[in-house]
Amino acid sequence: MSPDTQQWTPTHGQPYRPAAYRPERMPQPESIARAAELRARMDERRTVRHFSPDPVPAQVVRDAIACAATAPSGAHQQPWTFVLVKDPAVRQQIRAAAEQEEQLSYDGRLGDEWLAALRPIGTDAVKTHLTDAPALIVVFQQRYWLGPDGTKRKHYYVDESVGIAVGMLLSALHLSGLAALIHTPSPMRFLSHVLDRPENEKAFAVIPVGYPADDCEVPDLLRKSLDQVIVEV
Ligand SMILES: Cc1cc2nc3c(=O)[nH]c(=O)nc-3n(C[C@H](O)[C@H](O)[C@H](O)COP(=O)(O)O)c2cc1C
Repeated sequence: MSPDTQQWTPTHGQPYRPAAYRPERMPQPESIARAAELRARMDERRTVRHFSPDPVPAQVVRDAIACAATAPSGAHQQPWTFVLVKDPAVRQQIRAAAEQEEQLSYDGRLGDEWLAALRPIGTDAVKTHLTDAPALIVVFQQRYWLGPDGTKRKHYYVDESVGIAVGMLLSALHLSGLAALIHTPSPMRFLSHVLDRPENEKAFAVIPVGYPADDCEVPDLLRKSLDQVIVEV
């Protein structure tokens, strides 16, 4: 069975079933070379806010979502749903609702400190990326498990699990040659209505995916140096 057709069902209460795990050990020189290459490739990733409308290969996006879905999660509950939105009318609906919220935010709801933090990023309430990018991945957190009969079961470490999955998604998209933005309109309740999601799901982020526009610009930002982020004990 291909991984796309295997059906996972909740493992709550099942006994521990060990499976042998014996991956081949990578020779250290290869490991060192791969790490350096990956570091350089990841350093090239930028958040893109100006997209070309050119279509992207659907399978690349599906594979990136599949990569995200391999993320570790609290008690392996995999509390995520990725809604892939390609329909231009739905993207337009999301943009209209997001811009309405963002206008209120930039007009004062954010407060001076938040606005000052955003100033170097150069963002405003206009969100062209939501309609220019050919696809949006709207990520939902499953705050709890909801069975077909309405049974609810607690999910553990939902924020952490979905955050890790989104990090893996952004990495997979970048390493596959696509650009993305993690957009978090606040509040984002409108996404549940527009996309008709069940009550146990809460929107986490909207991720436009595509190619950068020919005239794309990004803020000139400096990343922390390694000695500013690492403490070796
Ligand atoms: C949780 C999270 C929320 C973000 N929300 C937004 C957003 O709503 N709009 C936006 O333009 N960028 C957003 N960003 C992108 C950041 O501004 C961006 O990652 C940061 O400026 C660093 O730029 P880089 O990704 O190009 O390195 C968000 C990033 C994260 C991690």
